[in-house]
Amino acid sequence: MPLASFSDRSALPGGSVHIRRLRRSDRADFLAHLLRLDPETRRLRFGSVVNDAFLRRYAEGALRPDGVVKGLFAGETLRGVAELCALASGQPEAAFSLERPWQGQGLGTRLFASLLDAARNVGAEHFVIHCLRDNVAIQKIARRYDAELRFEDGDVVAELRRPGGDFASRAREAAEERFARSRSAADRALYRLAAEVGIDLRLRRAND
Ligand SMILES: CC(C)(COP(=O)(O)OP(=O)(O)OC[C@H]1O[C@@H](n2cnc3c(N)ncnc32)[C@H](O)[C@@H]1OP(=O)(O)O)[C@@H](O)C(=O)NCCC(=O)NCCS
Repeated sequence: MPLASFSDRSALPGGSVHIRRLRRSDRADFLAHLLRLDPETRRLRFGSVVNDAFLRRYAEGALRPDGVVKGLFAGETLRGVAELCALASGQPEAAFSLERPWQGQGLGTRLFASLLDAARNVGAEHFVIHCLRDNVAIQKIARRYDAELRFEDGDVVAELRRPGGDFASRAREAAEERFARSRSAADRALYRLAAEVGIDLRLRRAND
């Protein structure tokens, strides 16, 4: 297969998909990811079909130091996000978003596991996920991690109690960050190589 016919999707599920913590400097990628979410994914994520202006305001206030945000990258493009917000409030909230073509392939489960490790590692004792009653996928994932589910005003609130940090969760997160760094370095090398033979992979992926 010629190099130019590869797309991000060809890397699924394990290939060039990697997860790492997002920083304030990732805000542009974060917004671009949110703007790519289709109406149904926006509804499930935010509780209603929010418009682009809402997402711009949301991204502006996101990635704050009192939270942990994990990003799932395919190549160099951010395709999924797991957020743990308001850690200092005593009632941290988790939320997840995955672009439609990347859903239903186990990547949400990977993001959930990664956020759970991060929550443990920052000492959070619990977090809640506000999700609509018809959101089967996130309920399935939460149950898999021994979540206790309770129902509230039509929403499902999945509360994970006593996640607790341990050697395994710290080792997993450290390995994940190391892997992400080495993946990025490998991708940059691939882009350089492709550029040398006249293929602009960055341009191609931006148009996906
Ligand atoms: C929720 C979300 C992150 C899950 O990620 P995902 O990659 O699609 O989920 P997975 O592939 O890991 O699947 C998890 C489980 O849900 C099931 N599932 C996925 N989509 C489903 C659907 N539409 N209906 C029923 N079950 C579904 C999968 O079969 C899997 O169960 P299994 O392992 O028993 O087969 C993703 O779908 C998403 O971004 N949805 C929109 C936003 C959202 O709902 N956020 C959560 C509330 S904040």
